[in-house]
Amino acid sequence: MTDPRPRALVTGASRGIGAAIARALAPTHDVLLGGRDARSLEALARDLPGKARPWVVDLAHPGKIAGATADIGRLDVLVHNAAVAEPGTIADASPEVWQRVFAVNLFSAAELTRLLLPSLRQGRGHVVLINAGSGLRIKSNRGPYAASKYALRAFADALQAEEKPYGVRVTSIHPGPTDTDLQRKAAERAGQEYRPDQFLRPESVAAVVANAVRAPADATVTDAVID
Ligand SMILES: NC(=O)c1ccc[n+]([C@@H]2O[C@H](COP(=O)([O-])OP(=O)(O)OC[C@H]3O[C@@H](n4cnc5c(N)ncnc54)[C@H](OP(=O)(O)O)[C@@H]3O)[C@@H](O)[C@H]2O)c1
Repeated sequence: MTDPRPRALVTGASRGIGAAIARALAPTHDVLLGGRDARSLEALARDLPGKARPWVVDLAHPGKIAGATADIGRLDVLVHNAAVAEPGTIADASPEVWQRVFAVNLFSAAELTRLLLPSLRQGRGHVVLINAGSGLRIKSNRGPYAASKYALRAFADALQAEEKPYGVRVTSIHPGPTDTDLQRKAAERAGQEYRPDQFLRPESVAAVVANAVRAPADATVTDAVID
C-alpha cells in the first residue's frame, strides 16, 4: 500500500531552526532529517511522529551529494535550511572562508535542488529556502554570509520563474535574529552578553514555514520576512 503522507527533507535539522521546522512538519509529513551527526538525528527521529529518519550528508562537498539522494524516492517538500555564518570583515575573509560559506549556503542547495527536481515536479512539490534578513539588507561583519544569502534569494527567484509551469512552489523565508547556536556563537565571539529573550524563537520561524507549506495548492507564499 502506498503511504498517503507527504514526504519532506529538511537540511540542518539537527538543531536550531531546522529542528523546529522538522517538529512543525512531522504531524503531517514523513520527515528526512538532514545533518552530519547521525546519533543526534536518530534521537530527534525517535521523538517525532510519522516515519522520520536521518539523512546524513556533509553539505560542505556539493559534488558528493548525489550518492545520498538515490534512496530518497518521492519528495513533496524540500527545505534548504542548513547554513554556516563565519562572521568577520571582508578585509579578513580568506578564499577558504568564501568557499566554505558558499559551498554550504548556496552550492549544495543548488545541487540538491537539481538532483531532487524530478521528484518534486512529479508531486507538484514545494522548495522552501531559509534565507535571512542578511539576504535583503547588508550589515558589517558578515559579508560572505550576506553575499551567499543574496545569491540564495536570486537562486530562489530564478527557480520560482522556471518551475512554476511544472507546478513546483518556491518560498523564500527571511527570519530576523533567532535564538539558536548560530546567534549564541556570534555573541560569544563578539564578547557580547547573550539574552535569548531578545530573539525570535525557532518555533515561531517554523510555524511560518509550516503555514507556507500547508497553504492551498493554488496559493504560493513566494516570500516571508519575519521580524
Ligand atoms: N539564527 C538566526 O539568527 C538566523 C536568522 C536568519 C536566518 N537564519 C538561517 O536559518 C537557518 C538555520 O540557522 P540556525 O540559526 O538554526 O543555525 P544553527 O543552529 O547553527 O544550525 C545549523 C544547521 O546547519 C547544519 N549544517 C551546518 N553545516 C553543515 C554541513 N557542512 N553539512 C550539513 N549540515 C550542516 C548543522 O548541522 P550539524 O549539526 O551537522 O552541524 C545544523 O543543523 C540558516 O539558513 C540560517 O542562515 C538564522
